[in-house]
Amino acid sequence: MKILVVGGGGREHAIIKALKKNPAVDTVYALPGNGGIAADAVCVPIGATEIEKIVAFAAEKKVDYAVVAPDDPLALGCVDELEKIGVPAFGPHKNAAIIEASKAFSKALMKKYGIPTASFETFTNMDKALAYVDKVGAPIVVKADGLALGKGVTVAQTVGEAKRAVREMMAEGKFGASGSTVVIEEYLEGPEVSVLSFTDGSVVVPMVSSMDHKRAHDGDTGPNTGGMGTVAPNPYYTPEVAERCMKEIFLPTVQAMNAEGRTFKGCLYFGLMITGDGPKVIEYNCRFGDPETQVVLPLLESDLLTVMRAVTEGRLRDTEVKFSDRSACCVVLASQGYPVKYQSGCEIVLPATGPDREIYVAGAEVRDGKLLSHGGRVLGCVAVEDTLEEAVRSAYKVADAVKFENGFCRRDIGKRALDALKK
Ligand code: AMP
Ligand code: GLY
Repeated sequence: MKILVVGGGGREHAIIKALKKNPAVDTVYALPGNGGIAADAVCVPIGATEIEKIVAFAAEKKVDYAVVAPDDPLALGCVDELEKIGVPAFGPHKNAAIIEASKAFSKALMKKYGIPTASFETFTNMDKALAYVDKVGAPIVVKADGLALGKGVTVAQTVGEAKRAVREMMAEGKFGASGSTVVIEEYLEGPEVSVLSFTDGSVVVPMVSSMDHKRAHDGDTGPNTGGMGTVAPNPYYTPEVAERCMKEIFLPTVQAMNAEGRTFKGCLYFGLMITGDGPKVIEYNCRFGDPETQVVLPLLESDLLTVMRAVTEGRLRDTEVKFSDRSACCVVLASQGYPVKYQSGCEIVLPATGPDREIYVAGAEVRDGKLLSHGGRVLGCVAVEDTLEEAVRSAYKVADAVKFENGFCRRDIGKRALDALKK
């Protein structure tokens, strides 16, 4: 079989490696892939948002199945366009990808269907937004409506900070059209849990839970990033919490999307906060998380391609999706200065990896036979072990064996999860 994967980060590398475990897969094309992915797939220089070129390539190569991983092509309708030429594709249609692409949409959906989330108001008028901030006070959270590379959220501790965020989004166009509508919501407190799920619009099969580490520096300080590391499972996601989530959030969300005529098929990602008042939705993503995927897929014991095709064909109910009860940790090696200002083109030498160890490449290119950094997040160093404590230790061993002088990582990935286990 020929498989096409749209995207070119660490998440896509993890997806490709998992797909390749199926012996029926003989070629994987990555569009655009990256210098590290090139060891596992044929990388083709077509950008993830060049929908017409992606579709033309799929037709030319007669690919059997496609996986559209990033949010942008999903929001642009890449799955719809591939289906039009007869290529089945994993991922939601454009009309369902809106659950991530518009926070105004997802918040209104949750309100209409009684799905627990922070209380909120949506604004297109800046003066009204500023008046609302004054009325509610701080702490308060300001979110740009549209896709903003995970950077469109300001958790403001003061009214001044919140108003500045509103002005930046609505008057100064910091996130372009994505910020012309803003959602202002209640500040929630509690541990965060990421739950990726497979859904075919009928059943929801949650994957093993995980915990992201979004801030750049140790102790959850520094600016927000795309994610500096992950662990799975997340100890805060107890069986009781999982049961409530299924009943109060997961199934109601899928049913709400059906009721709206926007059936969601693919990976639906629930970003949750476990508050004193029960689990609440912080955000939905219409895709696999990055770097959550890098710890979730190594724990998947079932064949990924089989599960994905069952999702696309609406057969998930009859398909086994089995996860290992072991633990995984991913430590991200990023370029010094990320996420603000950083240099690319620095040499990386990867160590050999054995069983239960993976290095997923997020941002690198090959030049003159050398692997060079290319981007902010460069590598995800992953280990799977029987316990979370061992997984964390082993993932750091992998990260420390990488030669990458311009790189840095957080030294406390997994610490919060391990502390929670000790309680
Ligand atoms: P999002 O892009 O919506 O996931 O938001 C990014 C991060 O901002 C989340 O992971 C949370 O840590 C934080 N956040 C978002 N919404 C809230 C909220 N209502 N209360 C507190 N923190 C929030
Ligand atoms: N790690 C969070 C995300 O993929 O959006």
